[in-house]
Amino acid sequence: MTAVQMNSGSPPEDSSTFILETKRLVLRAPRLEDAEAIALLANNRKIAEMTELIPHPYRIEDAEAWIASLAEKGQSTTFALFAKDKGLAFIGACGYGLREETTPEIRYWIGEPFWGRSYATEAVRAMIDHAFTATDVDALAAGCRVTNLASRRVLEKCGFQWTGAGLCRIRALGASVPSDRFRLDRRTWASLRTWGRTALPGRARTAKGLGKR
Ligand SMILES: CC(C)(COP(=O)(O)OP(=O)(O)OC[C@H]1O[C@@H](n2cnc3c(N)ncnc32)[C@H](O)[C@@H]1OP(=O)(O)O)[C@@H](O)C(=O)NCCC(=O)NCCS
Repeated sequence: MTAVQMNSGSPPEDSSTFILETKRLVLRAPRLEDAEAIALLANNRKIAEMTELIPHPYRIEDAEAWIASLAEKGQSTTFALFAKDKGLAFIGACGYGLREETTPEIRYWIGEPFWGRSYATEAVRAMIDHAFTATDVDALAAGCRVTNLASRRVLEKCGFQWTGAGLCRIRALGASVPSDRFRLDRRTWASLRTWGRTALPGRARTAKGLGKR
């Protein structure tokens, strides 16, 4: 992940000044000009029913109100996601921010046409790297509906560990549903980041004198 500061006069923790870049994605703060593309993808019951706050139906005005609200959320960091291999098309969003609890919670969604291409995993990993390098948070939290196996898998691939079960309120359903809770602490993240340097080579070799396996 590389981070490019867009406005050298702004503090580094202000996500509106940053563009993060991964192999296939560009992550930057959502802008009003993104509202139409956001509404096009977010207006999907399959997304609304898996996220706590996305309403359904979801109109351009909802996207505009959401973007405007981000400026007021001083302790939130939100990124719109753009795919380099799709002509920098908007494909989803992710973010983390403080709620009532002290551990920042990550959130993410990907537009249905772009599911199953590891975009969520790539975006969430970039966001985690950003959170642990640009802030001093000790841990990140996450939650997903127990039925959301794809989201659970994304969290597992990003190093999150299950911490318990509970309920989460889904705005689009107007109801609370069973959910799983996850956590990734800074030390685990740091360990995962260095694993590659000490990992076994891709193919196990038989070392002379050590005998065959
Ligand atoms: C959940 C979501 C973000 C996943 O996005 P994505 O870009 O398709 O995710 P990725 O491709 O990075 O990873 C998905 C993983 O889940 C797996 N998966 C998908 N559907 C699955 C299912 N029904 N059962 C088990 N695993 C499943 C995929 O195989 C993949 O794992 P793998 O790489 O080990 O094969 C996307 O489906 C989405 O936005 N859904 C609606 C909103 C939402 O759920 N947001 C998260 C709220 S907690």
